[in-house]
Amino acid sequence: MNPPSIAILDFGSQYVQLIARRVRENQVHSLIFAPNVSPEILQRHSVIGIILSGGPSSAYNHSAPQPHPGLLNMGVPVLGICYGMQAVCQQLGAKVQAAAQREYGRTTLERTADDPLVRHLPARTTVWMSHGDVVTGLGEDFVTLARTPHSPFALVRHRSRPLYGIQFHPEVTHTPEGAQILRNFLFDICNARPTWNAGNILDQAVEQIRERLRGEAHVICGLSGGVDSSVTAALLHRAAPDKLTCIFVDNGLLRLHERARVEAIFRGHFRMDLHVVDASKRFLERLRGVIDPQEKRIRIGHEFIDVFREEAARIPNARFLAQGTLYPDVIESGHSAAGTAANIKLHHNVGGLPAELGFELIEPLRDLFKDEVRMIGELLGLPEEIVWRHPFPGPGLAVRILGEVTPERLELLRPADQIIIEELTAAGWYRKVAQAFGVLMPVSSVGVMGDGRAYQGQHVIAVRFVESTDFMTADWVHIDPNVLSRISSRITNEVAGINRVVYDVTSKPPATIEWE
Ligand code: XMP
Repeated sequence: MNPPSIAILDFGSQYVQLIARRVRENQVHSLIFAPNVSPEILQRHSVIGIILSGGPSSAYNHSAPQPHPGLLNMGVPVLGICYGMQAVCQQLGAKVQAAAQREYGRTTLERTADDPLVRHLPARTTVWMSHGDVVTGLGEDFVTLARTPHSPFALVRHRSRPLYGIQFHPEVTHTPEGAQILRNFLFDICNARPTWNAGNILDQAVEQIRERLRGEAHVICGLSGGVDSSVTAALLHRAAPDKLTCIFVDNGLLRLHERARVEAIFRGHFRMDLHVVDASKRFLERLRGVIDPQEKRIRIGHEFIDVFREEAARIPNARFLAQGTLYPDVIESGHSAAGTAANIKLHHNVGGLPAELGFELIEPLRDLFKDEVRMIGELLGLPEEIVWRHPFPGPGLAVRILGEVTPERLELLRPADQIIIEELTAAGWYRKVAQAFGVLMPVSSVGVMGDGRAYQGQHVIAVRFVESTDFMTADWVHIDPNVLSRISSRITNEVAGINRVVYDVTSKPPATIEWE
């Protein structure tokens, strides 16, 4: 059942997931594996090509991760990138050493021979380098296809086997011909076919869900209104509409009109069996007097589990629980095909459900990247406002109100936040930023309103727009100041109780994206 796949071996490069996505952008399935994965495992996954990523190690160190020697004899094409190239060349007798001069950034690649891998490349082109080691003695088995001023062996291939090495990084956009090199590798060398497209992904997912849900058992899906849970719900609904019940918990910490929107889409448009639980009172009660951000998270997390458990108990025959886990989560938790614990990231688990609930898990997006999830979301007919929605934290507005969360403060933040999103969208910036929101600072600052001085009961809204690809780091957005002007003027005019609007110009690190 596995689609023909390109294996990416993770030698610790920050670009591993990027390489996997670049392959999938060509409609070819890719999977990430541990660096020492065996040929048998790769065969089991229908691997038709192998890419060895870069990494921080030096191939000549004893402790450096090495590819399984059997990989090079499988008859499957191999492309080693940076460290991956050095590891392959060294296994086949070449010499790897620390470079006399480290090479970072752009340089010019000059093609010196013809080969399917460099087909359609100009004679000279820019490439992006980032390495401290180099292959110095190539040995008899390799030929050079291209060089740069500091790397005589910038692109090499084995004389008789389909084994390639690239010293630069074809996966980054700073290497303009990188995409062409990857296409050459996939289609001309691995003979891949572009079949991993939204339609096929969807058909396959639907078929797998139907297989799992044979029989009487029902599936419950916790719907938050975010992209992942929405696509999960729509997918399950496509596969087994009569066996799905969605649960939406209104925790009182949602954005303006959030609940109504979810109801309109899933109950109205899709006609799903949607249970909406109004638990706002319970949550606000549990948050009373709490000012510590982590304590807020813990209480919200526990309350969510309690509410969900109670509601799920009302659903007869419920055996499965659907979750919108994505491939990057799987990789980062060390449960991917890689079976490695590389890059473990601590996840905020608020909004998650513990295994003790006793359901069998269905995770139909486990093999997908976010952009693929969005593609199938569109294909399933979810509206743009869901498919392209920014992430929203599980604890919701509670971590966007500094200090205690009260109904009055929520009533101040909600309309202000709505204005921020409306103006950002109207200006055409929504899709250009990763997250956009307002933060309520419940401090008083002096203002003039009408002819008088306004101080008591007047609070501050901070506007935060960030750019980010992985949310581990983020930059503040250099937004058009006219957008900020409109936001400021609308908030101070339309939201009684706010007399000052500020813009957050801090990146992550040192700040986090959320203020709490
Ligand atoms: P920070 O603030 O840590 O946020 O830079 C990184 C990303 O995680 C989101 N976030 C959360 N998501 N529960 C969540 O589900 C949480 O407790 C939580 N805290 C932060 C944040 O919105 C950003 O996308």
